[in-house]
Amino acid sequence: MYENPEASLTPEEFIPRLETKEFGRAYHYLPEVTSTNALARSMADKGGTAGTLVVAETQTGGRGRLGRNWVSPPGGIWLSLVLRPPLAPSRAPLQTLLAAVALREALLKGAGLACSLKWPNDVLCGGKKVAGILTEMKSAGENLEYLVAGVGVNANFPGNLLPKPLREKAGTLLDLLGRPVDRPGLLADFLGIWEGYYTRALQRGYDQVLEAWRQGSGTLGKKIRIHTTRGPVTGRALDIHAEGGLIVETGPGILETFLAGEVTILEK
Ligand code: BTN
Repeated sequence: MYENPEASLTPEEFIPRLETKEFGRAYHYLPEVTSTNALARSMADKGGTAGTLVVAETQTGGRGRLGRNWVSPPGGIWLSLVLRPPLAPSRAPLQTLLAAVALREALLKGAGLACSLKWPNDVLCGGKKVAGILTEMKSAGENLEYLVAGVGVNANFPGNLLPKPLREKAGTLLDLLGRPVDRPGLLADFLGIWEGYYTRALQRGYDQVLEAWRQGSGTLGKKIRIHTTRGPVTGRALDIHAEGGLIVETGPGILETFLAGEVTILEK
């Protein structure tokens, strides 16, 4: 059994590090949970306020995108944040980009790692996925009632705890750095940077998020294959759309915007 000596995410160790106004101020910490997203959603359904944060040391039924499982051993950072942004449901993908941009900055600040963003929701460090974001929402017509942003960071556990088929493409901060990261510090930095982007986006719009995403992107300019509901499509990723979609040149002069899909980058 892998044991690591670093600080835990208990309120005692985490809250003193937090410098936000709202994000994480209602803090729910659990040693184990099925899925922090599922719990945060049920809290939001019962009126949980914006900024409610659920963090668990381990998840027994962590959820990934596209109905996948998300393996969540102790040592990772498994969190879900309840948000209630004034945003049309169709623009909710912007919140995923916003969280990704903030996480990339926090990893640079807290771990010295220059990571890149893979559309729509992956954070890659050293070419391997170390974090993913699953944004789930509840809406009624044009009203977004709440959004739960679930973030998983493969932090302080060795990559050999990940299922074998994932290991080629996924990694952990522990393996990349050769030492554990300060999880409470990294989480506090992340929430502070995230809240900053969020507040500015609500005041001035999402241009700053889109620009930061472009800067951090490892997808734009590359030849890619995007797996969509209508099958795989190949092309060159050109830009990010104002609502968070990916603009791809799928043939000479043919630009298509994809709102969802799984991207494979076909060139370095
Ligand atoms: C992805 O497929 O890349 C998204 C993974 C999101 C995983 C996180 S871990 C915390 C939160 N709770 C979940 O059940 N999923 C998200």
